[in-house]
Amino acid sequence: MFSTLEKYDQDIVITAMEIKTYQAGDSVIKEGDDGEELFIVSTGKLRCTKIFPDSPEPKFLKDYTSGEVFGELALMYNAPRAASIEAIEESVCFSLDRDTFNHIVKTAAIERRKKYDGFLQKIEILSTLSPYEREKICDCLNTEYFKKDDLIIREGEEGNKFYLIQAGTAIALKNISGKEEKVFEYKENDYFGELALLEGDKRKATIKVTSEEFQVASITKDSFKRLLGNVEEILKRN
Ligand code: CMP
Repeated sequence: MFSTLEKYDQDIVITAMEIKTYQAGDSVIKEGDDGEELFIVSTGKLRCTKIFPDSPEPKFLKDYTSGEVFGELALMYNAPRAASIEAIEESVCFSLDRDTFNHIVKTAAIERRKKYDGFLQKIEILSTLSPYEREKICDCLNTEYFKKDDLIIREGEEGNKFYLIQAGTAIALKNISGKEEKVFEYKENDYFGELALLEGDKRKATIKVTSEEFQVASITKDSFKRLLGNVEEILKRN
């Protein structure tokens, strides 16, 4: 969410942040309240729960740990808090006030979620994700542009990104007995680069662009691990 900010704006955001410490059991956000700030977890663990009409008990949604953001929805969409958040161990968070968020981060964050969400909905392996999980992925995607014959991944290199094709075609090449052989063809909405991230291994093929123009949305290994846990099994099976 903050990665595309210019240095100057980043400094304003950092200066505006307040450090807040919570003990286990402290409520940080209450569902239905007005929201005046969002939070970034520095250390500790916090639990997100939500009340659904079919049950009187709040339902567990997810736990938040270091580096994750919560409480952004109320600020982005001028809505009441959509869920509750409680510290489950001593936790330190950085809070950012509504005015600074609105002024500096909000428009870009909404645009980014809008820009990528339609695209992510078309990707079959992501179809098990909830709309909210998809939105979090939108925050972490970056579009990269390539030309015909560019190599996006090289066999044998360390892998640090996963790619979703927005436009264009590419092929996977593998060195088989000293000869480069084509082993796969990719088109729009396909993905590649998952193996090295799933298996913590070297790239097992080279990916080469075959269309004149090529546009791909990439996500870093850290974000991939954090946000795509739910689809790891499907990726492994595929
Ligand atoms: P906000 O509505 O401001 O406050 C509650 C927060 O819970 C919300 O922002 C999100 O950051 C977080 N949250 C996590 N999972 C969900 C979900 N499935 N639906 C809504 N909010 C969620």
